[in-house]
Amino acid sequence: MTKNKNNLAIWNTRIKDNTSRLFKKAGNSIDIDKRLYKEDIAGSIAHVEMLFKQKIISLKIKSKIIYGLIKIEKEISNKKFNFKNDYEDIHMNIEKRLFQIIGEDAGYIHTARSRNDQVITDFKMWIKTANKEIGITIDEIIKSTIKLASKNIYTIMPGFTHLKNAQAVSFAHYLMAYVEMFNRDKKRFKDNLDNLDENPLGVAALTGTSFNIDRNYTTKKLGFKKPTNNSIDTVSDRDFVLDFLYSASVCSMHISRISEELIIWNSDGFNLINLSDKIVTGSSIMPQKKNPDLLEYLRGKTGNSYGNLFSMLTILKGLPLSYFKDLQDDKEIIFKSYDTLLICLKIFNEVLKNIKPNKNRMLELANSGYITATDLADYLVKNHTMSFRAAYEKTAAIVNLAERKKKYLHELTLKEFNKIEPKLTNDVLKVFDLGNSVNSKISYGGTSFANIKKMIMKYKKQK
Ligand code: ARG
Repeated sequence: MTKNKNNLAIWNTRIKDNTSRLFKKAGNSIDIDKRLYKEDIAGSIAHVEMLFKQKIISLKIKSKIIYGLIKIEKEISNKKFNFKNDYEDIHMNIEKRLFQIIGEDAGYIHTARSRNDQVITDFKMWIKTANKEIGITIDEIIKSTIKLASKNIYTIMPGFTHLKNAQAVSFAHYLMAYVEMFNRDKKRFKDNLDNLDENPLGVAALTGTSFNIDRNYTTKKLGFKKPTNNSIDTVSDRDFVLDFLYSASVCSMHISRISEELIIWNSDGFNLINLSDKIVTGSSIMPQKKNPDLLEYLRGKTGNSYGNLFSMLTILKGLPLSYFKDLQDDKEIIFKSYDTLLICLKIFNEVLKNIKPNKNRMLELANSGYITATDLADYLVKNHTMSFRAAYEKTAAIVNLAERKKKYLHELTLKEFNKIEPKLTNDVLKVFDLGNSVNSKISYGGTSFANIKKMIMKYKKQK
């Protein structure tokens, strides 16, 4: 009945006419899902081992099938496998080839399973590996960032709010802010594994199966934590896809924000960092140009990531339970997100190795914009028993005076200070030292040098 007539669909007994050629071309997914071949074969081997253990198939048939599957895996790995669009997807391609290698006994492989549970099993296994690969790459970035931070603990720059000079900070403190973002990304990806780690295999098309299968056995064999609970949910659920896409989007967004920041800092107006020639490109007409194209590429790619997340959300939005062909797109979407994120992470790691702070300019910019005004207000509170609001007002008046006189705060004379606050003495001048300013922010998480050193140590030790 299920004779493997080559080039005929598995369902050719039931469906007599050929599928529309146009749809066959558009609807097959082999070019995309062949990436799942290793997982598909591992899943099939676990499945037939279970079928044998449960006495559903014989030892002979199990051994023949496994022999065939291993041969197929080698063929694919060695690029000797002839993928056929006619066979729609990776599952059918492998099954058809199995018939060619071991004959009609291949027909036993699909006992008590469906492509619906098969594809999710493969996909979940693939995502687990991809997820870990991303974790490793994020770790490399964290390491590079910490390395750059270690060299720049005493590099002082303006910290910005609204892109206006706010208060002085250490460049390392900015860099360690990125480390926080990447650590959250790492955790977000890792947390996804928890929800994803349930084995779909054995729910078959949507109802489960009447065969006496052992789902705990395949769960263990395939490295899942437990079998999924509800067969209908299992074949319909793509939450784990969304989790991945969301995590990828947030991670891309982080890279994009940092890239944008570096683009601004590298602009001629700011000139706070230099990018090495490795990470800039020239202009076809303006000979002087060194453009931060790489950073712009990273910023731009975030759009793809968001697009992928929204594609999947939209596919799922109106979809009743359980399986529908709409779901087939999930793989292309994730592969695109994964590939893009991975390359972006690797490029970003190169960026980190190819940026240099322009320390003089950082200091120069930090000295402008009355950046130590908050320090002066704090000083008044601590030394002249004033409320913070009163001190804030006095300081604002001093800033206004300095602006009128076209002077930095530290250039004002004691006479000028005393016009606004008679109690001030020359002692106040220490407040305007940027090093003192940075180092005074000793509250937990603040930019004092000791805090930064502690954080760097903490993250250097982190596994
Ligand atoms: N290629 C299909 C997919 O990725 C496999 C599942 C097919 N199931 C079905 N009932 N047509 O979604």
